[in-house]
Amino acid sequence: MINIAVFASGTGTNFDAILENINVGKIDAKLVLLVCDKPQALVVEKANKANINTFVFNPKDYVDKLAYDSAILEQCQKNNVDLIILAGYMRIVSSVLLKAYPNRIINIHPSLLPAFKGKDAIKQAYDYGVKVMGVSIHYVNEDLDGGAIIAQQAFNNEGMSLEEAEKHIHDIEHQLYPKTIQKLIKEGI
Ligand code: GAR
Repeated sequence: MINIAVFASGTGTNFDAILENINVGKIDAKLVLLVCDKPQALVVEKANKANINTFVFNPKDYVDKLAYDSAILEQCQKNNVDLIILAGYMRIVSSVLLKAYPNRIINIHPSLLPAFKGKDAIKQAYDYGVKVMGVSIHYVNEDLDGGAIIAQQAFNNEGMSLEEAEKHIHDIEHQLYPKTIQKLIKEGI
């Protein structure tokens, strides 16, 4: 059985979807660790409620990114993590983790990459006036929302309000991420 860690910074609706899919046997993995860079984030409460180990840190307590990524790596190794899943983790992952987990760190982003990287991607795309929106899942490298694409799902957003488009994107994420994770596990990652 594969051990996975989810890294998140916020609400954790993707964390919920992944955990739910594990609990009903649709993902053959164990969720062994939540890593979070925001002590007040709702996702931390959710992990505690589900009795999942957490590593919650404040980046300001470390001299630099390499220092906190080394602390994260130590926790991943301690928990025998095989696969790292970024789900709303709003930080760039450094070489410390990338070298230890080559092709074993994936991310979800709420746009059709390589368009609209970074924060508020849905609003960025909406304000630009795109007619097709979507979700991307990709391997992680040292670039912001960079790395080879694993899966994408698009939809026509014409006539949708920003709120409707956001809801639709999140609904897609909660289906596509668990399905893609399971596919990677079945294929041997
Ligand atoms: C998701 O929409 C995810 O795609 C996005 O953050 C949200 C987290 O929501 N990630 C990025 O923008 C990465 N650049 P959640 O905390 O409810 O899962």
